[in-house]
Amino acid sequence: MIIIEDRIITAGFRDEDVENEPKLRPQSLESYIGQENVKSNMKVFIEAAKGRGEPLDHVLLYGPPGLGKTTLSNIIANEMGVNIKTTSGPAIERPGDMAAILNSLGEGDILFIDEIHRLNRMIEEILYPAMEDFVIDIVIGKGAGARSVRLDLPKFTLIGATTRIGLLTAPLRDRFGVIHRLEPYNISQLKTIIKRSSGVLDIPIDDAGAEEIARRSRGTPRIANRLLKRVRDFAQVKYDGSITEEVSKYALDLLEVDKMGLDNVDRKMLLAMIEKFGGGPVGVDTLAVSISEESETIEDVYEPYLIQLGYIQRTPRGRIVTESGYNHFGLSYLK
Ligand code: ADE
Repeated sequence: MIIIEDRIITAGFRDEDVENEPKLRPQSLESYIGQENVKSNMKVFIEAAKGRGEPLDHVLLYGPPGLGKTTLSNIIANEMGVNIKTTSGPAIERPGDMAAILNSLGEGDILFIDEIHRLNRMIEEILYPAMEDFVIDIVIGKGAGARSVRLDLPKFTLIGATTRIGLLTAPLRDRFGVIHRLEPYNISQLKTIIKRSSGVLDIPIDDAGAEEIARRSRGTPRIANRLLKRVRDFAQVKYDGSITEEVSKYALDLLEVDKMGLDNVDRKMLLAMIEKFGGGPVGVDTLAVSISEESETIEDVYEPYLIQLGYIQRTPRGRIVTESGYNHFGLSYLK
């Protein structure tokens, strides 16, 4: 039996391997695969801002985890020829931290805030005048002697990334001039990404081997790159080092990632909905308790792909399993 410590197909958590493999990240819009609409728009906005000698307007990127929001932000910085500072909503704990970060930016720099929906409200309020007028108001002293001082900031670009645009407050959302949703990748795009990564990592792979990994990657480059590395391990130890369709199938079956890219947790969740709740409707909180998961993880990580596959649907009364969901397990749908 193989014990997999983390869910191999979880896009929500950073894969240290991939994060530490900066070569896997494309550096230019030209080498960034997919998201054609976002790319072509960003190309125009970047060229226009550069032409005017101004910083880019603030950009909000949203969509499921693992689709390349961080990668794209780094590319935008490269294309603009400016520095990027990276932080995240939960990492900024006090208003003073936010003020210090803003104050450390250079003219035209990009500040990237991941998980921006998790900023607390007091910190968010510092961002409003910073985004709009490039100033921050700092309170000096306490009690009756306290006074507010306005500090000028360099003209900067904020790039915010979120998996949950619905959790952003309207005043914050409205201060972004450019808002883009990243879409899941299709099999052909994932295949191209897998072949590109194989080239970077010097892994021999054939077309069918790449396609099999692509099919099981849940539309997500981060998962595709992670599966590629694990399949490479099997290719090296159990085969001659090259990845073919046979090797991919062998390895992915052992990794318990099924033909549609579902793993044990997805299967457990679908089966709980079918067996414990008669296929639904079931509320997300009830479902979360029944499979010992957090509601937020279900909503961010598991559910989007199962909805995309058409295995579950959201209804006003809760989640339901569809006929295709039943069919995935060879179960008949009696409704
Ligand atoms: N690696 C991760 N995302 C990618 C993308 N969109 N294009 C190329 N390589 C990638």
